Amino acid sequence: MLKNFWYAVEFSQALSDQPKLVQIFGQKIALYRDTQGRVQALDNLCPHRGASLALGQVQRDSLQCPYHGWHFDPDGKCVKIPSNLPGAAIPQRAKVTTYPVQEKDGWIWLFWGDRELAESTEIPHVPDVHDAELRMVQSDFQWQVNYERAIENVLDIAHVPFVHAGAFGNPNAPEVERLTVESDAWGASARVTMAANPPRGIWRLLARRDPSPVKARTGFILPNLTVLELTISFGRLVIWTAQVPIDDYTTVSKSMSFRSFFRGKWADSDAIKRSQRILEQDRPVVESQFPQQLPELADAEIHVAADALQLKYREYRDALRVAGGDHLTQNMG
Ligand code: FES
Ligand code: CO
Repeated sequence: MLKNFWYAVEFSQALSDQPKLVQIFGQKIALYRDTQGRVQALDNLCPHRGASLALGQVQRDSLQCPYHGWHFDPDGKCVKIPSNLPGAAIPQRAKVTTYPVQEKDGWIWLFWGDRELAESTEIPHVPDVHDAELRMVQSDFQWQVNYERAIENVLDIAHVPFVHAGAFGNPNAPEVERLTVESDAWGASARVTMAANPPRGIWRLLARRDPSPVKARTGFILPNLTVLELTISFGRLVIWTAQVPIDDYTTVSKSMSFRSFFRGKWADSDAIKRSQRILEQDRPVVESQFPQQLPELADAEIHVAADALQLKYREYRDALRVAGGDHLTQNMG
């Protein structure tokens, strides 16, 4: 895992006034919005009898455990024990760990690492999410893969004609043109033109007779965001995905999918179904990958030209993992 980064863990819109359980690297965390609308994050485990705080209620700015009603403030301190008679002390140990958490660009970000470093660490900037011209739907997809394999699957252009033949891949055109990888301090992306699959069904009515090639852009922003942008004859589709690392072998891919076509609400469920179908095509192969975690060294598997973007991801990952928190001072300097 990459330590000392802000991870996108949930859609902003998905957190209302009810607390929500999220999990990252095996740690269960109760997220809630206090009555002023600020997001707070506490360890999910109540130190009294171990009930799940995410099942509790928000009371002003504290979270109340569902079992015996203890209140925990945003610093994780127990501030009220309803069963106590007046004057009874609150035990010193009655507190839970908290996590730095912020909201930006439509995502809730949780800092995973040494909390003193949170303030000095930038949250990635996600373009597109404020573009009112685009229609957006959100969806979750849980699978038994390490999140780094899920990231690389999005960066993987060569699998498209094989895994997604009939969807957006053309099995008769497996060659991948030479990739030009653009990178910055936080990530990298590449643009590529792919032969389109001849359209079927309703798509045939919308596309030209001879389908023009699909222009794609794919990339990652550290630590856990991927983007896939497809420009087709009738519009643009941009899918931002937070690959949330539930544990070493489980990922929830949380996607915001923006489209410039079929702007009506009627097409939303269809858009969700379509992206779930694409991921179901990926599922058996990505879940089959061994080892489940990305190998330690960038050169541990074999790379060809089409894998340039994945290789870039591994280079970043390897460098940052070795550096630990040093990436912070490097970026600031
Ligand atoms: Fe939470 Fe008792 S288990 S208050
Ligand atoms: Co795929």
